[in-house]
Amino acid sequence: ARTQTGAADAAPEWSSRAAFIAAAVGSAVGLGNIWKFPYMAGVSGGGAFVLTYLGFVALVGVPVLIAELLLGRHGGPSIVQALGRMAAGARGGRLWNGLGWFVALTALGVLSFYSVVAGWALAYAAKAAVGGLSALTPQASTRTFDALLADPAQMIAWHTLVMGAVVAIVARGVKGGIERAVRWLMPLLTALLVVLAVYAGGVGDFARAVEFLFRPDVSALTPEVAMAAAGHAFFTLSLGLGAMMVYGAYVPKSVSIPRAAVWVAAADTVCALLAGLAIFPLVFGFGLDPAAGPGLIFVTLPVAFAAMPGGAVVGALFFLLIVVAALTSAVALIEPLAAALGGAGERRRVWTLRLAAGAWALGLASVFSFNLWSDVRLFGQTVFDFIAHVTGDLALPLGGLGFAVFAGWVAGRSLTAADFGSPRVHAAWLLLVRFVAPTVLALVFLDLLV
Ligand code: PFF
Ligand code: NA
Repeated sequence: ARTQTGAADAAPEWSSRAAFIAAAVGSAVGLGNIWKFPYMAGVSGGGAFVLTYLGFVALVGVPVLIAELLLGRHGGPSIVQALGRMAAGARGGRLWNGLGWFVALTALGVLSFYSVVAGWALAYAAKAAVGGLSALTPQASTRTFDALLADPAQMIAWHTLVMGAVVAIVARGVKGGIERAVRWLMPLLTALLVVLAVYAGGVGDFARAVEFLFRPDVSALTPEVAMAAAGHAFFTLSLGLGAMMVYGAYVPKSVSIPRAAVWVAAADTVCALLAGLAIFPLVFGFGLDPAAGPGLIFVTLPVAFAAMPGGAVVGALFFLLIVVAALTSAVALIEPLAAALGGAGERRRVWTLRLAAGAWALGLASVFSFNLWSDVRLFGQTVFDFIAHVTGDLALPLGGLGFAVFAGWVAGRSLTAADFGSPRVHAAWLLLVRFVAPTVLALVFLDLLV
């Protein structure tokens, strides 16, 4: 293994297979699992969304994850240039540069609100640490969260702290920092999720939660729900933005990418389901609204921490771990554009700062959508919902579709059977990225249009 000094290296490598998996899991497991999955499941009617999302992860997510990682391995970390190079000679060569820019810009849009939500988690870690989340009724918990949303200055402060941490990590070298954080803190987060799920099952309504999450109500499966499930499958696996492509570029040649991809997807899915099992027993047990939206975990979990012995410590730790998980995801959102615009070395550092500043500024729109601009509607949605929807539900699946088609039809020959270990696995993957994934995604998009 070569040096680990940071993102500025010309061709750095993860120090080992375990280090790469840790980083990929670090990118995948984040707010998507603990914050977005429960809230999306809640507003989208539970089981219909959850099972569709699981289907997308298996049929489309894993193949596209393999595709992105392999494209990175063969094309290198500068995704725009890499796509252009791999497309050279193929029809529509120029178009594929466009895909690179499109996904990299989407990543910045995601980062803008991701940092705001991570800021909420940081605020809650601080509140919990000073005992500010104890003795809460569900009503009081709702008021606490609403008070945070009503205070733009406070939200901007937390948002700024998070974005500053992202820049600091990227500047000091993504790899070393991420590796260490993920190896120790992710297992701890998972363990805490298990504890919370068990506790919630004890004090809440476990049976109803399981029924809500896993019994599909077919009539709830609207085109919008299918689209949201597709989008969430990409979001939670960090796909469709070029982030995994950048990470794939650093994978040692000896590592089997398909096998690693299955591990990453499995770990991510387990974390999401655990989060669901920690939240929904409380939601139903305490009579909270499952469709409460983006605030769901911030309203629900404090109720559990308040009732739990040692809840202030557990709560502070839990929200802090969410922030760590968010940071190891957020750094991956800057990588694609920083690599595309800055290349290596000093220019990259400058671009990282500029990009973070841009995402920070766009994040202000999300902040204000909860207070100063709460009356503003874009296509019937608040600014926050609009940015989250356009990036997460539309741009991500489009980007993922682009990567699937590119890997299956354009770059096909440079991704060889050797990458798969077995010709059968290679053939199965080709079938999935060439036909299954594009067909399923096209159907979902068409369904949405008619
Ligand atoms: N997968 C992350 C999550 O579930 O929180 C979100 C994310 C991170 C998406 C990085 C895309 C990405 F490049
Ligand atoms: Na995730």
